[in-house]
Amino acid sequence: MRVDVVSIFPEYFAPLDLSLIGRARAGGHLQLAVHDLRTWTHDVHRTVDDTPYGGGPGMVMRPEPWGEALDALAPPEADPPRLLVPTPAGAPLTQALAHELAAEPHLLFACGRYEGIDQRVLEHAASRMPVTEVSLGDYVLFGGEVAVLVILEAVTRLLPGVLGNVGSLDEESHAHGLLEAPMYTKPAAWRGQEVPAVLRSGDHGKIARWRRDEALVRTVARRPDMVAALAPECLDRQDRATLEQAGFPAAPSDVAK
Ligand code: ADE
Repeated sequence: MRVDVVSIFPEYFAPLDLSLIGRARAGGHLQLAVHDLRTWTHDVHRTVDDTPYGGGPGMVMRPEPWGEALDALAPPEADPPRLLVPTPAGAPLTQALAHELAAEPHLLFACGRYEGIDQRVLEHAASRMPVTEVSLGDYVLFGGEVAVLVILEAVTRLLPGVLGNVGSLDEESHAHGLLEAPMYTKPAAWRGQEVPAVLRSGDHGKIARWRRDEALVRTVARRPDMVAALAPECLDRQDRATLEQAGFPAAPSDVAK
């Protein structure tokens, strides 16, 4: 996958040399280039922002450098990338969106700062490429850089060949609309706490059932919104009993089945 990132703080992206993302880059799974937006300014101060029309606090990023940056990185004659713009006004980043992005051949991130980017940049870009505004959550950051680090990490680990154990993708939180069950490793007893006996039983059927029940109970306690969004046909009889015990009665029509 090719990824271009445009920012006025290219230094923010130094961590992308590290750890598994660094390895994905070294291994050729991710071709990443970070660009300084000020490359596309032409005044001595390399200005990228100005006061908002209509008044109000803060500054807005001017359209000209962004227009030139997008022209350079997504030339009209080439296959268009998918443009991603991190903003608290965007659609929430979910695992489903991460999967969608991992299937794209080329992502282009535009990092806004201050009060954001002049809206005409996004309108103009949308006539040439798909544009998605993405939010990390219901809070406000100084700018999109940290959001890009988060999105890239969520996406890179889904690229084929990046994770050694692909099975872990299937079992992790959010893979099937549930949070993951708690995990344990050696020693079997630590500070008076024992690892649940079922996990040491070697009975894979029982272990899978235990993990499923723990996932259901945890998700009821922490994210009842996720349980409410589960498709009823994904729940077996034991799932429904576990949910009911956890204080989340299944819909009456499901109980009857
Ligand atoms: N930029 C500023 N706040 C943000 C958020 N919550 N998500 C994504 N980008 C942002």
